[in-house]
Amino acid sequence: MNVAILGTGYVGLTTGACLAYLGHDVVCVDSDPRKVEMLRQGKMPFFEPHLPELVADASEHLRFTTDYSQAIPAAQVVFIAVGTPPGTNGAPDLRYLESAARGVGEHLGGHFTVIVNKSTVPIGSGNWVESLVRDAFQKRNGSAPPGGTFAVASNPEFLREGSALADSLYPDRVVVGADNPQTSEVLYTLYRPILEQTFSAPAYLLRRDDTTAVPLISTDLASAELIKYAANAFLSLKISYINEIGQLAEKVGADITQVAKGIGLDARIGTRFLQAGIGWGGSCFGKDCMALVSTAGEYGLEMPIVEAAQKVNRRQRQRVVEKLLGELKILKGRTIAVLGLAFKPNTDDLRDAPAIEIAKRLIERGARVKAHDPVAMDSFRQHYPDSGVVCCETPEEAIQEADAVVLATEWPQYRELNWEQVAASMRSPILLDGRNVLDRARLTRAGFRYVGLAG
Ligand code: UDX
Repeated sequence: MNVAILGTGYVGLTTGACLAYLGHDVVCVDSDPRKVEMLRQGKMPFFEPHLPELVADASEHLRFTTDYSQAIPAAQVVFIAVGTPPGTNGAPDLRYLESAARGVGEHLGGHFTVIVNKSTVPIGSGNWVESLVRDAFQKRNGSAPPGGTFAVASNPEFLREGSALADSLYPDRVVVGADNPQTSEVLYTLYRPILEQTFSAPAYLLRRDDTTAVPLISTDLASAELIKYAANAFLSLKISYINEIGQLAEKVGADITQVAKGIGLDARIGTRFLQAGIGWGGSCFGKDCMALVSTAGEYGLEMPIVEAAQKVNRRQRQRVVEKLLGELKILKGRTIAVLGLAFKPNTDDLRDAPAIEIAKRLIERGARVKAHDPVAMDSFRQHYPDSGVVCCETPEEAIQEADAVVLATEWPQYRELNWEQVAASMRSPILLDGRNVLDRARLTRAGFRYVGLAG
């Protein structure tokens, strides 16, 4: 099928590369000419494992342009995958969505086109996009689009940065929200190779043995939109829940890792997203919880559970500063090493990264912060030129002469550090394991005072 994708961020580029790999003819559109030029040269605008390989393998079916007229008229399916960053009052900023929808309306071809909201958009946006497309079509052509020209669908994605390609090729489910059967049929055809798992897996992204047919959840528009928010808010709740229990575990002397395992093996609860630590970050959880609360507010409804999850998450970051204060008594003039800046491993994404907020609070209290990250440092320097954080080329350099070290992102290489050696290079060997992933006994043997956030 002919597919157009608007926006070459995580969602757009991953979706485009995967659909092109499956054999669809995909044109990705981005308004930033530098980004398009980079992509044409095979360079990725962000770090995501195996994305360069997949884009190269799919190159026969994948083109990049800034020009809507090169993409929309021929497309049978148009994905809108532009950014919806947090705006004021918790509601997302929809200006990119609006301009994309108008652009689609201006360039629609003469055949039936399905316009898919892939960005995380507030509930009700499907109808809004439809009216924008209709309006733009009418302005350009002088008359309303004839019936059967287009339909809007919602097809939320659940991909995680760092494993975006596997999540897209081998998803747990595909959700399609549409208000007529013809639209669902088009998307079913598009996704058939994924739903039936009939494509041959790339060598670098092998299919797990237990991956069989993928369930398709076919719903109305509003339900699909709500599924996305409800899923992310639920995952956020799970993390905040285990962090809340972690605080109690600390008080009563329990081990939160064992507790998480013990509750997670109950199939009704599940083991995933029960990793205690400094809490969630990233572009989705915080934003989606806020948006859900904001949407509910428009209907006069409170969402105390989701609000509590946000509160616990904020508190975890503050606890890092309080723990360091408890250990060092004075933060002014101390040097704190922060290992990891990205909001989680395998990405260079710094959006809502706990490490950055923690560094900021430490600096506000007069501490000197030295930081290291294996892939996110260039992006950090670019986005936070005046942060006051000293970026170091190696973790050892960051830790040297520090009064304490905070593990903020659980990059695998940090587990492998020569901890005996780094302990000896510090002014005081205090380690705050913000991700609850290091071996307390081993660190203690290496000479560290190991401080956890839970238990
Ligand atoms: C998330 C959702 O998982 C994905 O389905 C959605 O579509 C986009 O948002 P992402 O933000 O890429 O994906 O990362 P994810 O792996 O979900 O992690 C989010 C944050 O939670 C990270 O900061 C991570 O460190 C933290 N986390 C995750 C925990 O603190 N504990 C856990 O047990 C799991």
